Amino acid sequence: MQIFRTIAEVREWRRQCVLNNETVGFVATMGALHAGHLSLVTASLAANDRTIVSIFVNPSQFAPHEDLDAYPRNIDDDIGLLGTLDGTVDCVFAPKVSEMYPSGITLEVSQQKGAFVSVLGLSEPLEGVTRPHFFRGVATVVTKLFNIVTPTRAYFGQKDIQQTIVIKRMVKDLLLPVEVVVAPTVRGSSGLALSSRNEYLSDKTRDLSAVIYNALSVVKTEYETGVTEAEPLLAAFKDTILPYLDGTAASFEIEYVSLNDPETLEALTKIDPKVGAVFSTAVKVPKADGSAARLIDNLVFEPK
Ligand code: PAJ
Repeated sequence: MQIFRTIAEVREWRRQCVLNNETVGFVATMGALHAGHLSLVTASLAANDRTIVSIFVNPSQFAPHEDLDAYPRNIDDDIGLLGTLDGTVDCVFAPKVSEMYPSGITLEVSQQKGAFVSVLGLSEPLEGVTRPHFFRGVATVVTKLFNIVTPTRAYFGQKDIQQTIVIKRMVKDLLLPVEVVVAPTVRGSSGLALSSRNEYLSDKTRDLSAVIYNALSVVKTEYETGVTEAEPLLAAFKDTILPYLDGTAASFEIEYVSLNDPETLEALTKIDPKVGAVFSTAVKVPKADGSAARLIDNLVFEPK
């Protein structure tokens, strides 16, 4: 596995792939890799001649008050994990911030200058309410990475469902020559969706947080038994999680729970089974240090 730090090295590697007529699969990550990330890499290895993984904690998707400095970074462990997979990851691209932001980057949005990529509309609801500049940061860095790697296929996790919808729309509207593949959410044995940020939680909170998946599972069962109205589906979620909100079992807080169109993210009052829907949530749970961590999760009702 080659470790590249510069754009020039990736471009030279990519040139060889073109000469050899090889397909290239790409997985963008911020590191602190877990089985969720590895499932994307495995999907890429299975479908492409070559696979490249980026590890870059992207400053522009963090607000000044968020956890950029605390975000877990352990690239040696990450490289070790990639080496354990069946199939060979050809390279890891782990650039410095100055390589990705040659004009510099400040987290203060009002002081930012230069070129960014915005996906208007889709970036505003759900995650965008509390993280208004998050998807601009994601779309900007993913565009840069696509420009460097020019992958045949790029893999993203359903865990971050709004991110996949924003990126698909960006690829469509900016005519980017890449196929976006979305892979299912990987969960721990309790059902909790794996996330690098789960490292912030105590074992007890991590165990209790399984209620988010349990509540989603109740909603899924309701839908499968014929309930398509938003109201009872949202109520089923809230009722299941209630003892975890009022201090009986825990003091979690639902930041949002919402039923939306899978392409436009328009809020739905009822699911049209032919169109499908996204049912998504963010729940705040206490971190060991007393502040709150946001856990996101979702269900996708595929069109029938
Ligand atoms: P990161 O959180 O490191 O996630 C990298 C990729 O792994 C994303 O596509 C994410 O959806 C996927 N992923 C994370 N947890 C998963 C799980 N439990 N199951 C399946 N897939 C999972 O998402 C980002 O980084 C960044 O925003 C990035 C796209 C790299 C841009 O900076």
